[in-house]
Amino acid sequence: MISYEGLFYLVLGVSVYVILLLSLRLISSKSEDSDVVENESNGWHSKEELVIVDIINETHDIKTFRFKRKNGKGFMTFLGGQFLSFQIKDDNKLLRSYSISGSCENRSTLQVSIKKLNNGVGSGWFHSLEVRDSVFAFPPGGLFSDDTLDSDKKRIFVGGGIGITPLLSMIKTNIDRSNRIPLALFYGMNSVKDMAFHKELQLLEDTYDNFSYFPILSNKDESWSGDTGFISYDYITSKLSIDKNDNFYFCGPPVMTDSITDGLIKNGHVLEHIHSEKFASPVAFNPDNISAVDADIIVDGKTLAYSGKDSLLEFLEASDIDIDFACRSGVCGACKCKVIEGDVDAFTDSGLTPKEKSDGYVLTCVARPKTNIKIVI
Ligand SMILES: Cc1cc2nc3c(=O)[nH]c(=O)nc-3n(C[C@H](O)[C@H](O)[C@H](O)COP(=O)(O)OP(=O)(O)OC[C@H]3O[C@@H](n4cnc5c(N)ncnc54)[C@H](O)[C@@H]3O)c2cc1C
Ligand code: FES
Repeated sequence: MISYEGLFYLVLGVSVYVILLLSLRLISSKSEDSDVVENESNGWHSKEELVIVDIINETHDIKTFRFKRKNGKGFMTFLGGQFLSFQIKDDNKLLRSYSISGSCENRSTLQVSIKKLNNGVGSGWFHSLEVRDSVFAFPPGGLFSDDTLDSDKKRIFVGGGIGITPLLSMIKTNIDRSNRIPLALFYGMNSVKDMAFHKELQLLEDTYDNFSYFPILSNKDESWSGDTGFISYDYITSKLSIDKNDNFYFCGPPVMTDSITDGLIKNGHVLEHIHSEKFASPVAFNPDNISAVDADIIVDGKTLAYSGKDSLLEFLEASDIDIDFACRSGVCGACKCKVIEGDVDAFTDSGLTPKEKSDGYVLTCVARPKTNIKIVI
């Protein structure tokens, strides 16, 4: 028989147990909350130090660099196909952009794959770096992504050479998310020695029945028994039946992507389903061929006298006007301003959304005044 004293201790024991359980739940829900808080504070808003944790030799001239954040936090969400703009050496105005080549689902490391160009300042510097070296990078940016696409139609990726990198990220992200959308990759390379990521792509094709892979080499090679030639509209349609609502993602030399786009348009495809990215270096925007201009620039209620060929960004910086930038080559959108009056010339507007373009925004890093202008930053 249980005594009063025994009953008292039993009730006390049960109460302590219940209180303990409730406290544990509270603590655990608090720690879930604090994880959420930590994720929110995880943000990457400006230039940040990344540490190289791995370097992979993909081919004789392409290396993949894997980074972790110096602050030890994980990476936040980005979109498949986006890029990072890196500061080259210790010059905070010398920047180069590199597409993320890994899946968005990998938040612990982030990777880019860089082809070394002859006398290329940025790519040459990157190829001289070693594991444990640090680099400075701006947060992921760019509009070339299938992530926001609301369509279960085929996604056809067409890449030439190093243009494979943003496509690789989109494909791996779709696969990691088990999206059952049919995916096809047409990948043109020069020769066997340039076949970056080929084995990885073959493995993906063997493993996932919604992914088809069509590699093609422009140079004949005895050790290659696959297709040779160039990717064209006819080549694509000889391998795959395409529907006019399928979405195309191009990244490669304009000679390839422009002719395929022409073929698609002639066959009833609409531009809305054709997305493309160009890998221009800032050296391509050479102001040598443009004329110097004298103009008044009204900004923040001040009138400033512009004379010469500097980009609007360079001019505003020299005039001590505070303005953001990240890529300095017209792809990230960070430096945009709205033109209220007057005209500007711009090398590109690829870092702007269609809405921003129609609202009168321009990218100051690649724009110069044509007339007197009034702008809002
Ligand atoms: C959104 C985006 C994503 C990109 N993603 C990638 C990527 O994933 N991987 C990748 O490898 N690249 C990528 N790029 C390209 C990359 O940003 C660089 O443009 C590329 O690495 C070349 O930079 P660099 O500094 O090495 O060469 P640069 O010094 O910029 O020179 C480029 C080329 O021009 C030549 N050159 C330089 N100056 C002159 C001159 N005055 N006259 C004639 N020729 C000249 C150089 O010898 C070199 O061959 C991307 C570009 C963009 C815009
Ligand atoms: S700084 Fe990136 S678009 Fe101008």
